[in-house]
Amino acid sequence: MSNGCQIAAAVQRLRQGELVCFPTETVYGLGADASNPDAVARIFALKGRPSNHPLIVHIGAVDQLAHWAHNVPAAAWRLAEAFWPGPLTLIMEKAPWVPLAVTGGQQTIGLRIPAHPLALELLQQFGGGLAAPSANRFGQVSPTTAAHVLAEFGADAPMILDGGPCQVGVESTILNLTGGEAVLLRPGQITPSALAAVLGRAPRGHQASDQVRAPGLLASHYAPRTPLLLCAAEELIRLCAQHPLQRIALLCQPTTTPNILPEQASLIAMPETPADYGQALYSTLRALDLQGYDLILVASPPNDEPWQAIHNRLSRAARNTV
Ligand code: TXA
Ligand code: MG
Repeated sequence: MSNGCQIAAAVQRLRQGELVCFPTETVYGLGADASNPDAVARIFALKGRPSNHPLIVHIGAVDQLAHWAHNVPAAAWRLAEAFWPGPLTLIMEKAPWVPLAVTGGQQTIGLRIPAHPLALELLQQFGGGLAAPSANRFGQVSPTTAAHVLAEFGADAPMILDGGPCQVGVESTILNLTGGEAVLLRPGQITPSALAAVLGRAPRGHQASDQVRAPGLLASHYAPRTPLLLCAAEELIRLCAQHPLQRIALLCQPTTTPNILPEQASLIAMPETPADYGQALYSTLRALDLQGYDLILVASPPNDEPWQAIHNRLSRAARNTV
């Protein structure tokens, strides 16, 4: 089937209240018509996700923002102008008509325009908004290829639009605009400095006392099935020695690769730049899960701002704290 035919078929399914998996620049989404509570309920059922966890609504054009959100702050228009289509989700007050099924019962809504040609084509032809979490079962690593989505849902998989591997590879930056000041709920490729350039000041970090529910904020999310430990490069050899009978995958960058590898360990070469590392991360973890390792040991990448999203996902995937 050509892309055009596939999109027409996908739109037809969405209008009938069915689910469609689609690529975005970050990860694949499990989409449903966001204005149809029955369709949205199917997302929660298939993912096994608690129904009080809100979904992001994907839209196809900036002028739809005011349809879904109420009292849109001036900052939202500026950020949308600067970063959409792109990996930035803005949390705002929801418009009164938006079903609570989408927002996890909250009066707020998360919106973004994804930067992927297939997603944009789908949204434009569909015309409405698509509620879509990452297309994985609750708590699992997000899918960055169509094959990952199929592996997640197997025989239960809805229609999947295959747009190739996702460019960004980690989920969008989430910024809460509902209080007086912008609050960063989830780091992503769009960094606090990039946001500050538009907002005039860096967003505040999220605090436990903030009254926001976001499953991405749960510890132990985005985790592979194989136990994963995150450590300083100097610790790799000592940690291998502590697990002598285990087969270990060592995720290292050129700068963090040990000179001599223990026999039990296989070296998995990770990219040097945060953009390439982010793109490779989830597909690497998924591939390792299939290879029967006892342990994944990750040499901690650099810790400056461009690496913030990757550190965030690695520490959630890890069984230890560093
Ligand atoms: O890159 C992404 O954001 C991907 C692609 C598919 O767009 N989507 C994604 O969705 O990662 P999901 O559901 O796996 O994670 C969305 C996060 C959750 O942590 C959710 O709680 C938060 O967004 N979120 C959505 N609406 C919210 C709201 N109204 N208030 C607070 N957090 C919200
Ligand atoms: Mg997710």
